[in-house]
Amino acid sequence: MTSAAAVGPISSAVVDRPPFGPIERLAHDRLVAEQRASAASPRRSYSLSARALFTIMDTLYGKERSLEKFRVLELVARVPYQAWENVAYVAVTHTARQPNFARRVFNRVRAARWEQDNEQWHLLIMEELAAKRDRRSGFVRGRIVPQVLAFAYYQLSWFMYVIRPAWSYRLNADFEDHAEHEYAALVDEHPEWETIPYDGEFTQDFGSYESLADLFRQIGYDERLHKEESEVNMVDPRFV
Ligand SMILES: [Fe+2]
Ligand SMILES: [Fe+2]
Repeated sequence: MTSAAAVGPISSAVVDRPPFGPIERLAHDRLVAEQRASAASPRRSYSLSARALFTIMDTLYGKERSLEKFRVLELVARVPYQAWENVAYVAVTHTARQPNFARRVFNRVRAARWEQDNEQWHLLIMEELAAKRDRRSGFVRGRIVPQVLAFAYYQLSWFMYVIRPAWSYRLNADFEDHAEHEYAALVDEHPEWETIPYDGEFTQDFGSYESLADLFRQIGYDERLHKEESEVNMVDPRFV
């Protein structure tokens, strides 16, 4: 008989493994330098579909950089990685006779898993901070609309990835480039965050930071690495 608190063998084996937190954890000085580099770098030339998405976000959640808007962005940000994982995992099935090829495809699956987990910590941290420090949207704008956006974006990413992976990588590079620049600007808009430590719910998973400013710098740096990953894969989009 199992008690309510029983943990199965797989759950207990996985729970002690470190989660996929920040992609590359940086110390304060590097975080400041990388944020300055992000702020100074030109934006990518965004595709039509990326611009449409940013316009929808501005229309629904305002042009102001609110934590609530970042929360919605993070919810949408995970879904291309989920779509890619799904497509690549199915593709592994058809590579059984070519072990090296299968391994390369599976490496794409693993990268997509790490990327979506990283975005998930961003999302949970934004949920936490927006609840504490920001006005919340109502149920429809705060819960239903983001789910609809995420669902539509998942379908678009999945479809592009099946038809022409480079399109999906390009759209994601645009999305991540936008996120990187928006986080860099957000930190500049909040000098008061330099002296507020981050000791929230997710320090075990994403680390503790001397300041909220550094936490947001780390997230912005993650966004840059997501962008760079997609830029590399844009040029070499097939599983080769
Ligand atoms: Fe993110
Ligand atoms: Fe992102």
